[in-house]
Amino acid sequence: MASQLDILRQHSLVVADTGDIEAVAKWKPQDATTNPTLLLTSAQDPRFRPLVDAAIREGRADAALVTELLFVKFGKEILKHVAGRVSTEVDARLSFDEQGSIEKARRFISLYEKADVGRERVLIKLASTWEGIRAARALEREGIHCNMTLLFSFAQAVACAEAGVTLISPFVGRIYDWHRQQRGVSDIEIHEDPGVASVTRIYAYYKQHGYQTQVMGASFRKTAQILALAGCDLLTIAPDLLLKLDSSLEPFEKKISPEKGPSIKKLSLDEKAFRWMHNDDAMATDKLAEGIRKFDADARKLEALVSSLASRAA
Ligand code: E4P
Repeated sequence: MASQLDILRQHSLVVADTGDIEAVAKWKPQDATTNPTLLLTSAQDPRFRPLVDAAIREGRADAALVTELLFVKFGKEILKHVAGRVSTEVDARLSFDEQGSIEKARRFISLYEKADVGRERVLIKLASTWEGIRAARALEREGIHCNMTLLFSFAQAVACAEAGVTLISPFVGRIYDWHRQQRGVSDIEIHEDPGVASVTRIYAYYKQHGYQTQVMGASFRKTAQILALAGCDLLTIAPDLLLKLDSSLEPFEKKISPEKGPSIKKLSLDEKAFRWMHNDDAMATDKLAEGIRKFDADARKLEALVSSLASRAA
């Protein structure tokens, strides 16, 4: 009998959300996504220490360069186990710096190309701030494809589609976390899960208005959230949840498709309208700000880790 993971693969492209290269090799996803938090965890894992050492040898005393090299080395290793693309995230410190984000993305692509990885196999992850979305718009025009992360509001989704980005990663779990905390409850039932509802609405809007931008549900807390989005273009899933899906034989049906979904009026957002509409969403405003702080904190921890390892190696 087919597992839930087997059935899910018939409806959506399954992506692994991890910096654990062995997990990617095990689950053989279509694509893989990383972020600074996941790579901090992997950089501390003795199994991947040779990659850290190689980045230190090449980057020497330059902690920022070592970190960039580390991201690219993990990306290249991950790509040995996926047919598609790996997502590499731009420094959260650049979340409000359009030009800085463009330059960082170009640097990642140049490091990947020096390592014989073509740009078609890389998605540059950028925070879905106004500046991040503008940077993605420019990068897409030079053939650098982008995955817009930390996406919580409908305004962010509308602006990303208008910018013509390749892919968005609307977060399910962090929206669910925010609402659980606000309501003081430990769970929200799947039929009223606000994270699932957010992705369902964005997906319907994109398909209804013919946008090519792909929707990849991300940040899951339980398999029910993943199954409720079966049919979404892509779903990026952490290894523990991939294991649960693989271990379950309980049947489920495809939930979303281009033909289904509510009718939503087309919007066009300039900067002022984007900022106003995003700001009007308290959850999204909180979660975007918190997400940037957290990715930045983890990137700084990673830099401190490589600096201390480099000074010990010197
Ligand atoms: C993937 O692209 C995201 O970075 C990831 O799904 C975030 O998940 P989290 O909310 O569990 O950190």
